[in-house]
Amino acid sequence: MSLLCLGLEGTAHSFGAGVVSSKGEVLSNIWHMLSPAEGGIHPREASRHHSDMGPGIIRRSLEEAGISHNEIQLVSFSRGPGLGPCLRTTATMARTLAQKLSVPLIGVNHCVAHIEIGCLESGFEDPVTIYASGGNTQVIAFAGGRFRTFGETLDIALGNMLDVFGRTIGMSFPAGPSIERKAAEGVEYHQLPYSVKGMDLSYSGMLTAAKKLHLEGVPIADICLSIQETAFGMLAEVAERAVAHTKKNELLLTGGVARNNRLTEILEGVAERHGASFHRVSPPLAGDQGAMIAWTGILQHQAGDELPISDSHVMPKWRTDEQDIIWRRKL
Ligand code: ATP
Ligand code: FE2
Repeated sequence: MSLLCLGLEGTAHSFGAGVVSSKGEVLSNIWHMLSPAEGGIHPREASRHHSDMGPGIIRRSLEEAGISHNEIQLVSFSRGPGLGPCLRTTATMARTLAQKLSVPLIGVNHCVAHIEIGCLESGFEDPVTIYASGGNTQVIAFAGGRFRTFGETLDIALGNMLDVFGRTIGMSFPAGPSIERKAAEGVEYHQLPYSVKGMDLSYSGMLTAAKKLHLEGVPIADICLSIQETAFGMLAEVAERAVAHTKKNELLLTGGVARNNRLTEILEGVAERHGASFHRVSPPLAGDQGAMIAWTGILQHQAGDELPISDSHVMPKWRTDEQDIIWRRKL
């Protein structure tokens, strides 16, 4: 018998609810993103967004899956990492549902969920994963029972760098898609700081230098092209070394920035050079949404994980490599 899990995501600006079966079928995946008129995300406003929108999104998700509340056999939620007020609002909804429906509650690591939904979609068993989003830029591989971070940004995340640069030049949030469109019109590459330190990356120097190019009157399309080529080249270098070092033969791209076609193309080249298979998570599953939380909840549940409500406090600083990946022990 297949089991149905409702997964709630609410670590930052998006609230999502998805229903996934234990066979790996995504039956629904509804989300809504708060996009601030100006400036970054305010944690309190985002948590207010989640409490206002959450109940309606959960209802729509169940409707789209064609199920009623009492057919849910498991509730999972994004327990961290993320913004405290957002995590607490989402956790409260998940606890209430689990208690009311008398079903187990599962706490999911958001970053792990980005990896596991990619493995479900691609059929990959043990990839090197590039997880690039607004809050994270990590190169990850499974070793010794955990998802280990082989390399990561030392300052700001790739998506955040794109969003902040976009904001400076008047693009709306999130700026990643607009920068990708503009870059396609660019003709001339301008040098930007290429900063790879061992297996780690730094994007803040590039952001400052790109803003300077803008002040100097360099066309926006050329700056966008230069940002993409430099930033993605840096990430590809670290990914390539991780593939060479771990000798894994699968390369996975996940997180919101996985929507970028140029980054995909560059990483496809890396995989090809090393005889590895490549997959980029499809746009509806790439960003923050509930289906990835539901699917990871199922994996954890099947491995015997359960979270007592009394112990279900949120974990705003929960790192990818701090969780024992009990469902992958066999690897
Ligand atoms: P996390 O909590 O995992 O760090 P997040 O809250 O940033 O995630 P995501 O939806 O995973 O949310 O990622 C959003 C990011 O993806 C934004 O920074 C956005 O600019 C970026 N992005 C979306 N589409 C594109 C694109 N086509 N090219 C580049 N970046 C993109
Ligand atoms: Fe995310």
